[in-house]
Amino acid sequence: MSILKKIERFREEEERLKWEGTFEDYLELIKEKPYVTQTAHSRVYNMIHDAGVEEKDGKKTFSFFKEQIYGLEESIEQLVEEYFHSAAKRLDVRKRILLLMGPVSGGKSTLVTMLKRGLEQYSRTDRGAVYAIKGCPMHEDPLHLIPQHLRADFQKEYGAKIEGHLSPLNMMRLEEEYGGRIEDVLVERIFFSEDKRTGIGTFSPSDPKSQDIADLTGSIDFSTIAEYGSESDPRAYRFDGELNKANRGMMEFQEMLKCDEKFLWHLLSLTQEGNFKAGRFALISADELIVAHTNESEYKTFISNKKNEALHSRIIVMKIPYNLKVSEEERIYKKMIDDSDLSHVHIAPHALRVAAIFTILTRLKDTNKAGIDLIKKLRLYDGESVEGFNSQDLAELKNEHTDEGMGGIDPRYVINRISSAIIRKQLTSINALDVLRSIKDGLDQHASISKEERERFMDFISTARKEYDNIAKKEVQKAFVYSYDESAKTLMDNYLDNVEAYCNKNKLRDPLTGEEMTPDEKLMRSIEEQIGISENAKKAFREEILIRISAYARKGKKFDYNSHERLREAIQKKLFADLKDIVKITTSVKTPDESQLKKVNEVIARLIDEHGYNSTSANELLRYVGSLLNR
Ligand SMILES: Nc1ncnc2c1ncn2[C@@H]1O[C@H](COP(=O)(O)OP(=O)(O)O)[C@@H](O)[C@H]1O
Ligand SMILES: [Mg+2]
Repeated sequence: MSILKKIERFREEEERLKWEGTFEDYLELIKEKPYVTQTAHSRVYNMIHDAGVEEKDGKKTFSFFKEQIYGLEESIEQLVEEYFHSAAKRLDVRKRILLLMGPVSGGKSTLVTMLKRGLEQYSRTDRGAVYAIKGCPMHEDPLHLIPQHLRADFQKEYGAKIEGHLSPLNMMRLEEEYGGRIEDVLVERIFFSEDKRTGIGTFSPSDPKSQDIADLTGSIDFSTIAEYGSESDPRAYRFDGELNKANRGMMEFQEMLKCDEKFLWHLLSLTQEGNFKAGRFALISADELIVAHTNESEYKTFISNKKNEALHSRIIVMKIPYNLKVSEEERIYKKMIDDSDLSHVHIAPHALRVAAIFTILTRLKDTNKAGIDLIKKLRLYDGESVEGFNSQDLAELKNEHTDEGMGGIDPRYVINRISSAIIRKQLTSINALDVLRSIKDGLDQHASISKEERERFMDFISTARKEYDNIAKKEVQKAFVYSYDESAKTLMDNYLDNVEAYCNKNKLRDPLTGEEMTPDEKLMRSIEEQIGISENAKKAFREEILIRISAYARKGKKFDYNSHERLREAIQKKLFADLKDIVKITTSVKTPDESQLKKVNEVIARLIDEHGYNSTSANELLRYVGSLLNR
């Protein structure tokens, strides 16, 4: 569809969605669609739920956030099910300011923006529709028109609860424009739009010292006082502050704790109990979600200031720590690169993963659990299986520190380092080593890192580098063997047949000749030696494997290549050892002979066709692995 056609469609859709009627008509409408009377918080909660919820192992993932926020499932579940859910049920928390607290570039703004864009969309759907008193600058809830003494009756008849009272402006309009006839007041459907300042607002403090509260609550329009005769005439007041405009929807409060303490005081006392004070009027009822964000140190300063004590109870804090999963971090980088002007550059496979390994290491805290180092912890966190540890251990690790993920390297730093490497060297292709090098160079310039921390981070660079060495070797190895998994499986089956015969003191039968053979000790040892199993320990190892196989069989699970970590490692190493010589020769000979050249070209072609390399990065990989093997 052409863009013009789309614009036309959009306009048609706008027309179709419009609704206008009297309050009487509106009462008919809510009989049919009682959900349109929901509160702002309930609408946010339902918006998130309507997008879909997946439940697995007692954990919920919300599709609403899935497209743009990665690895924060636990924080998001807490936010949705603890905050929004209670708020949707009209519990007290909804009258407090929601403060997202987390480290820089951890996704807080992204999350808030998603809520804002989401609400704009949702208000255009049937389930998310919002109606307001027509012509009201605050899009006031039409139900406020129902006088207090009739609300109990209303609730009986319609099942909807009304909170808040008619604003002074609409009270006046009701008298002046409608002669007090509530049923005639015009009501319209509204569509949230930040651009049009309908139901979505953003408040970003200017100069913290001279911040004017009027930016939030509106102010008197002095030019109209003469016309209306008095400052307390609501028509002389402009209800155009962010809090006014965001009524029925949400307001984002950027950098809240950077505001002057007096201003905050003012603000928070203004927002008590879902009301705020504007001008000389009685409290104005507001129904909106207020979300602010801040980092931990700002928050700590705020908390430690005695003067702010009274404000604590007006805020509800939700932690948004960094993502702690390597594969999710990799997705974050991919997304950021796609959104940037780097997207034309070839990024070699594993480059982002290796950067992510480094980054996650900087965010993890050491554990006291025996037998686990940070790399193992990192693997467990990312959902990999680590020999000797299970989901119980994972849960324990996660509970060990309450503030894990509140510090470390942020994703933006990594993206900046990647782009600076690309720009500086005018590269069109970048690999894992380039990325690590650039991250390392940047640490010296990184302002907020202490000397100690820098040393720790340097260690993590080496750790990430070692991880890369293994990945790179495996990658080349796989490209050298036509079908790696097949070879690994064949070798393992062969080994297991021999082990079984050895433990049961049986003979094996040659599949071709049918001849009986004794177990192939040489083959078994050549595999076991790869992981340092001594002659004395071999029997125990073989028995352990048989026990694992029968345990699997009992549970009806299939024992395969990945079922025993050390065995897998041994098989991989054995395959690699066999290949090592040929790889070494073909990758490091200065003037390879014809057959070597052919092999190298085949491997390069396979790296390009099947593993996502380009010719530069494939050649770099081969050269690097060649040098590793020749060490
Ligand atoms: N968990 C995450 N999932 C997806 N993107 C993320 C995540 N954390 C950070 N980002 C990305 O990092 C950048 C900075 O995030 P931002 O939302 O501005 O952080 P904050 O407001 O917490 O400082 C954005 O491009 C964002 O998309
Ligand atoms: Mg931000």
